[in-house]
Amino acid sequence: MSQTGKAHKVVVCRNFGPDAMSLLKGTPELDLVIWPDDVGCDRAWLMDNIPGATGVVLTLSDKVDPELMSRAGPSLKVVSTMSVGYEHIDLRAAAQRGLKIGYTPDVLTDAVADLSVMLALMASRNAGTAVSVAQSGDWPNYPWLPFAFCGPQLSTTTTSPTRKVGFLGFGRIAQATLARLVPFGIIHCLYTSNPTSPPNHKRDAELVSKYQLQAITKVDLDELACESDFIFVLAPGGRDTYHIVNENFLKQMKKTSVLVNASRGTLVDSDALAKALKEGWIWGAGLDVVEGEPKITADHPLVKEPRCVIIPHIGSATLETRKDMAVRAAKNLIEAIRGGQMPAQVDL
Ligand code: DGY
Repeated sequence: MSQTGKAHKVVVCRNFGPDAMSLLKGTPELDLVIWPDDVGCDRAWLMDNIPGATGVVLTLSDKVDPELMSRAGPSLKVVSTMSVGYEHIDLRAAAQRGLKIGYTPDVLTDAVADLSVMLALMASRNAGTAVSVAQSGDWPNYPWLPFAFCGPQLSTTTTSPTRKVGFLGFGRIAQATLARLVPFGIIHCLYTSNPTSPPNHKRDAELVSKYQLQAITKVDLDELACESDFIFVLAPGGRDTYHIVNENFLKQMKKTSVLVNASRGTLVDSDALAKALKEGWIWGAGLDVVEGEPKITADHPLVKEPRCVIIPHIGSATLETRKDMAVRAAKNLIEAIRGGQMPAQVDL
């Protein structure tokens, strides 16, 4: 119970699974208002239920803007999101109101890194087209031909030993992706990161030695685009990175290069990417995220591109990781409501 003896109203915007829900339900200080369906909670329901709440547990699909904060009123103290990204939360408004924001970094790093490599392989090896040929029963029309379905190889070969991977953003998930690429023979790594932060020479030297790389180099965007054979977009979304992959960037990429985006759709200008694929500026793209998701339908220009593999934002979707994220989100909320330290709190 709170100091006044009253339970804290907490709005829970999803069924967060048995582990997280039993943590929340087993916390006597909480008076839970739980979205009843197994689909995403709608804004109108959230707006109806948020007034007077001390906390809210939600996901990256639920916008936390000044309108929601005002509707909640001064009681609102804690927002806990089951995501590592927090672009859906207006941080400036949250700071002005003294809110605590919890999020779920670290626990999803491996799952998203695994999937980033999967997308690189799928896009380079024409998996989108190949799978649809098999599933549609069209295989009889595709006899084995020497060069059918061929694409650029991710692993190094004796004839192409100098594969370079580039990371747009070089945080935890990018570094975990690099670790997975080392057994593919990758020894050259380029990256860009926040231009205001100085290069981290010590960390880079440690990575070179740990993975026996030939080089790991911080470069500008132009060099990243020109030099990389595979580019992994793994930077946060938001204003600073909006359409950072645009026509200019894509035009500089190699014709045989592959773009992977497992961060936020807003980093990539979809129309420019569709044009790049259609006109052969790059080889292919693997996307876990697309700007405007989930409203991406069959008539979207990227869905129509055969060399674009799109999956519906499932980067962290393993049973283990989603459970860990949900539990982390529940613990963040409970700790903050009790006045303790959240396991993972956003610095405002
Ligand atoms: C996140 O948690 O922000 C990821 O996008 C989930 O896959």
